Amino acid sequence: MKPLQCVKGMHDILPDEVALWHHLEEKFRALLAQYDYAEIRTPMLEPQALFLRAIGDATDIVEKEMYAFVDKGGDALALRPEGTASVVRAYLQHTLGATMPISRLYYIGPMFRRERPAKGRYRQFFQAGAELIGAAEPAADAEIIDMAVQYIRSLGLSNVRVQLNSLGDAQTRPLFRDALVAYFSQRTERLCADCRRRLETNPLRILDCKVPTCQAEAQGAPVILDYLNPDDAAHFAEVQRLLTLFGIPFDVVPTMVRGLDYYTQTIFEIQGSPDALGAQATIVGGGRYNDLIAQMGGRATPTIGFALGMERLLILVKDLVALSPPPLVFVAGAGEGGLDRAMLLSRTLRAAGLRVLVPFKEGSLRAQLKRANKSGATLAVIAGSEEAQRDAVTLRHLETGEQTEVPVAELVATIEAQQ
Ligand code: HAM
Repeated sequence: MKPLQCVKGMHDILPDEVALWHHLEEKFRALLAQYDYAEIRTPMLEPQALFLRAIGDATDIVEKEMYAFVDKGGDALALRPEGTASVVRAYLQHTLGATMPISRLYYIGPMFRRERPAKGRYRQFFQAGAELIGAAEPAADAEIIDMAVQYIRSLGLSNVRVQLNSLGDAQTRPLFRDALVAYFSQRTERLCADCRRRLETNPLRILDCKVPTCQAEAQGAPVILDYLNPDDAAHFAEVQRLLTLFGIPFDVVPTMVRGLDYYTQTIFEIQGSPDALGAQATIVGGGRYNDLIAQMGGRATPTIGFALGMERLLILVKDLVALSPPPLVFVAGAGEGGLDRAMLLSRTLRAAGLRVLVPFKEGSLRAQLKRANKSGATLAVIAGSEEAQRDAVTLRHLETGEQTEVPVAELVATIEAQQ
């Protein structure tokens, strides 16, 4: 029978890759703790209605990519395509705002989108994200953008540029929408079938259509920055002033709209090198979503956040980060009662914090040392019956073959001194 494969577009993370994943996750946790963010873990399955309401039912994510189904109990569920909607749901469900007027929350976990698989684009992928709930000031935008940049830089990627735009507020949208409809209505014959439909349902989405003819038409389209009210324009200018003050390079990209409907005011992205990532070069996407909490039934609460694609980041940093696990010690037993001695000793060494392997069966010392060499261990401890009478063991350097007798009481210190 042919062995089963994992679902197309999903992937196993194998043991030799996991150390780098841990590294990326630990760095993220440590950095976010410095900004006083706390982790939140939400379920991967949510009511479908959550994403229809939060992300927008005329977005690609909800229309085409969401894993949505009705379960055996008749409930309409979806695998989460992103984390923001779930964090907002949890924030409201548990009234987190009551105890944390400014809630700083982060998450790391798998998201699901049924996109066409490609390098850096998967159907299950991990996001590390942060949501800052309850702060309206441009300084909050600058801090959150800085946090994303600091994280990426801490992994050894120095060449980070931020792309910025502002989408204004709820009043800006209809004005801009009308301008877009007027503009694209003159050009329907050059739009793809999806965009012709979007002209009716969600004209902003035409601006991030990937079809080349639509992209070409979008170049001359009205620019949202021209429709901002004075407060939003001042907010955007202040974000830019602070990023300049921090020395963070950025470009204002007036055509950027992002693929989710909940954004207001500042939106941003960070691109990695297209050489390494191909067309899927966006590693961070984020922005303000000041109206979402009210739309979800809460009190109007200004909010900003971002999410980072971990697989894409991993492709970029895998050659920059050298990780070596702590040295491995192999404990071999020799002579009468050798296995018992080896197993007891391995427990003592692990209790002292060492990384230790022990064979599970008696065997000749030669055979055990052969296994030790294959295991990747640098040192072997031989618990022989003769040395045992002197409460000692033999310590062998597997590479050189050099060995010395060491009293058991001094073994941990001797091993540590050699590592
Ligand atoms: P997003 O732009 O849809 O934003 O996704 C954020 C990041 O997730 C992308 O920049 C990319 O690195 C990664 N990503 C998205 N789709 C895939 C995929 N199919 N395969 C691999 N990586 C992928 C959001 O999800 C928002 N929730 C971000 C946010 C948080 N905005 C405010 N708060």
